[in-house]
Amino acid sequence: MHMIDIIAKKRDGNVLTKEEISFLIEGYTKGRIPDYQMSAFLMAVYFQNMNDEEATYLALAMRDSGDSIDLSPIKGIKVDKHSTGGVGDKVTLILGPLLASLGVKFAKMSGRGLGHTGGTIDKLESIPGYRVELAVEEFIKQVQDIGIAIVGQSGDVAPADKKLYALRDVTATVDIIPLIASSIMSKKLASGADAIVLDVKVGHGAFMKSEEDAVKLAELMVGIGRLSGKKMTAILTGMDEPLGHKIGNALEVYEAIETLNGEGPKDLVEVTIEIGAHLLLDSGLENDFDKAKIRLHEALQNGTAYQKFLDLVEAQGGDLKSLDNPALLLSKKTVPVVSTKEGYIMDINALDIGRAAMRLGAGRETKEDKVYLDVGLDLHKKIGYYVKKGDVIATLYVREKGIEEAKNLILNAITFGKEKKHVVLIKKTIK
Ligand code: URA
Repeated sequence: MHMIDIIAKKRDGNVLTKEEISFLIEGYTKGRIPDYQMSAFLMAVYFQNMNDEEATYLALAMRDSGDSIDLSPIKGIKVDKHSTGGVGDKVTLILGPLLASLGVKFAKMSGRGLGHTGGTIDKLESIPGYRVELAVEEFIKQVQDIGIAIVGQSGDVAPADKKLYALRDVTATVDIIPLIASSIMSKKLASGADAIVLDVKVGHGAFMKSEEDAVKLAELMVGIGRLSGKKMTAILTGMDEPLGHKIGNALEVYEAIETLNGEGPKDLVEVTIEIGAHLLLDSGLENDFDKAKIRLHEALQNGTAYQKFLDLVEAQGGDLKSLDNPALLLSKKTVPVVSTKEGYIMDINALDIGRAAMRLGAGRETKEDKVYLDVGLDLHKKIGYYVKKGDVIATLYVREKGIEEAKNLILNAITFGKEKKHVVLIKKTIK
């Protein structure tokens, strides 16, 4: 088999075999296929697409390119969730402890942020002392002991995806459905959970801008997971504005703590409870969806979810005292963003809000960038709010850089109108 023939076959719109896909993933991972050939192949896929079978073979070949985590020593059903990437999405920080407080096993490997989207691991590192790197044995023992662990990717999970994703990032081949689906599912399948909920974001702050594309992506990922024997659910949720109000690492931990104490913003609570209810059912600890939701709400209100969060932070070496007053984790220097317009907020470009936080230092433009954990923004006004000229729309938590740029991005991200608009957050469920 030769890579040049595989490139030509895809360039001409033909369907690749399982063997051809395995050949190219193995060859690329081991360094036998150079970046320039893989780049040509990716661009061919971009224009000619892949069918569901090819995407499935790709996901499985990437899963098999490295370690698979064996969670079988942990009793019961292990659950996982994945978001396709959004702004202000701190659901994992809330959902994990919430589910674990009800007896669900939450063994989660999370990533770091890149571009305008944040990563759970960066957020957790804003808690002084929190260790994101645990050996696999330690990770498993912690889930056995307290029902939850949230760590960075340990071991060599899906190395083909790491290499390919970096190449896609610089060859304008990220946003194509079969490549996104196989990338995400290769890591999910290697991480060992039995039940997975995928939160597929749709809107201008997301990879999928249209609902039609989001459904295609969701159905493809659910299909790939099922073929490997996983219980799969995907929900489509709107990313037409950031989730919650706070964006930036310590700021998102702060909002997660508020939510775990029953004082979270409505949209953030809604998405968390929806995902939680599916996973509570999948784990076999509840059989009625509405009752699952009630139990999850109760755990946010009565302190049990927050206590589990404290258990998690303590187990991973984090400083519990720092959580008594999470405002102390934020930069002391703040700047208000004041509205120059008046009216109802109709739309907030979440992508630009994410970029504003990134310019302040909350995210990375390249993998090597240093992230400042204490900066970001608190967006006080969201869709449906009435704003007058002179109202403070957002508070920036800053160091030195990016202040004016962030202000302009935020002011230009907002569209005003004359009527109050209601947002439908959960758009579809695919089982
Ligand atoms: N997230 C991933 O892990 N992979 C993609 O291709 C896109 C989003």
